[in-house]
Amino acid sequence: MGDTALMSDVLELVDVSVVREGRALIEQVSWSVKEGERWVILGPNGAGKTTLLNVASSYLFPTTGTVSILGDRLGRVDVFELRPRIGVAGVGMAEKLPRRQTVLQTVLTAAYGMTATWQESYEDVDEQRARAFLDRLGMTEYLDRRFGTLSEGERKRTLIARALMTDPELLLLDEPAAGLDLGGREDLVRRLGRLARDPIAPSMIMVTHHVEEIAPGFTHVLMIRQGKVLAAGPLELELTSRNLSRCFGLPLVVEQQGERWTARGLPLG
Ligand SMILES: Nc1ncnc2c1ncn2[C@@H]1O[C@H](COP(=O)(O)OP(=O)(O)OP(=O)(O)O)[C@@H](O)[C@H]1O
Ligand SMILES: [Mg+2]
Repeated sequence: MGDTALMSDVLELVDVSVVREGRALIEQVSWSVKEGERWVILGPNGAGKTTLLNVASSYLFPTTGTVSILGDRLGRVDVFELRPRIGVAGVGMAEKLPRRQTVLQTVLTAAYGMTATWQESYEDVDEQRARAFLDRLGMTEYLDRRFGTLSEGERKRTLIARALMTDPELLLLDEPAAGLDLGGREDLVRRLGRLARDPIAPSMIMVTHHVEEIAPGFTHVLMIRQGKVLAAGPLELELTSRNLSRCFGLPLVVEQQGERWTARGLPLG
């Protein structure tokens, strides 16, 4: 059990910095994610988004500051007990997974907290779960395909199914729509939207570069630039042209249409 005072917090960062080679990759970040909130992290290349997700997933310890994840304080909790409660789908994960494994095996191995099939004796119930998650992500036709032969979009959907396999309380997605074509992006946004609105789905935090990738059901945004938080709060309040322009360092206009967002640069002159 964690600190009782923080039990309702999914994530609580206080003055967190990560310093490497004398440079702060993230600096004095204070951020709290409550149950039921679904956050988008926006920021330019190199802003510190992946670093922040690595802290939130307990794989990276901050240089200074305190981090509580799912009520447990980093540094006091056994991370090997904490990690199965967190689902991660990011660029780094795809590279660690064996290319020759089938899609079904790739998702199944998540249940055992390892990246390779050491033994082939999985429980039927796990296989059923893996099939169900893959079905939800539209991957039923690819169960026997080798992971290494998948297209970018197919790989991303497999990784999300894999991240859901341990029944996580917190789901972290690092640029899940990067590299997808327009149809693939819209398909993924729809699936993420369905997940975001599912009351029994985990808390979600998604890193992206594009406001077009924000699925309906996401509630909050954190904007980061050069390691520092520029804005954090409800989408309706914080995802403004002013904030987005400061975040990306050029004049931008952001618009909300229904439950979707778009942004574009202002013409020069
Ligand atoms: N181990 C490290 N040592 C030194 N610098 C690092 C290390 N890891 C990351 N960085 C640097 O920290 C900065 C933030 O990196 P990070 O990967 O968090 O950015 P990001 O916001 O995810 O960017 P992108 O949008 O390109 O994925 C970058 O300038 C990166 O080069
Ligand atoms: Mg990144």
